[in-house]
Amino acid sequence: MNSQSDYWSDAASRYEEEFIDPYHLQSSSPLLLALAKIDGTGKVVADLGCGIGPLLPILADQFLLVHAVDFAPGMLERARQRCANRSNVLFHQCRFSDLSSILREIDVAVAVNSLVQPELAELETGLRQIRSILKPDGQFLGILPAIDAVHYHTMLLVDRARHRGMPEAQARQNAAMLGEHSLYDFAFGSFSYLGLEQHFWQPFEIPYRLERCGFRLLHLCKAELSWSQFAAGADLREHPPPWDWFFLAEPVGTSSLSPFGPS
Ligand SMILES: C[S@@+](CC[C@H](N)C(=O)[O-])C[C@H]1O[C@@H](n2cnc3c(N)ncnc32)[C@H](O)[C@@H]1O
Repeated sequence: MNSQSDYWSDAASRYEEEFIDPYHLQSSSPLLLALAKIDGTGKVVADLGCGIGPLLPILADQFLLVHAVDFAPGMLERARQRCANRSNVLFHQCRFSDLSSILREIDVAVAVNSLVQPELAELETGLRQIRSILKPDGQFLGILPAIDAVHYHTMLLVDRARHRGMPEAQARQNAAMLGEHSLYDFAFGSFSYLGLEQHFWQPFEIPYRLERCGFRLLHLCKAELSWSQFAAGADLREHPPPWDWFFLAEPVGTSSLSPFGPS
């Protein structure tokens, strides 16, 4: 049976066609705006789940040293090619649940659409590892895929169909088909596609799970996507586009870790 790292590796060659992440590198992105506020002089940053490395050149320009981490060799291979002329980017093939053996004393950790582990135990172990490699005054920021944005798109698709005269039951079927609902488990927030299983986040889950794992959420806002990447997007342009969630967090002391403890 293939592991998730195999599936991600396979996805590397067709990454740009299948994923919508590059939108987080537009100048208006809250991720880039937050990064620009950090003085990276003399600092070490980790790009956790760097994928094919779209963020690495930006980080390499700003920080003294960049650790590019991913568990999928196919992704790392493309990221290495992108950074062939950079001397301050180090690559590590490892999973988030095993970071502390290779990384420590990180000033800034970034995770862009990579905190998607379908098993919550693995997801939380990864978050706790990220906390353990950060300096006490470090920062953790990133982008999380939003399950509530799928609900929003669905609502607009249903109303679009109703507006065209479809009976409601048919409008729902139309929305489910266009929104690829068969790929989602809405109750548990998961998305399965070509063997890849990804956790999609609810906004209320973000402070909750970060706090369980030793972080305090400092800022949460929508990172807007482009309608051009969504079914019937051309018809829905009068509405604000769907989003992912941008977060900024800081590590807290072990004494204030979740009363639930690690599970
Ligand atoms: C959706 S891609 C995002 C890639 C990149 N951050 C970007 O914005 O283009 C998710 C990446 O996270 C990596 N990843 C997912 N789970 C991981 C884990 N548990 N440990 C290490 N890397 C992981 C995948 O291999 C993939 O490259």
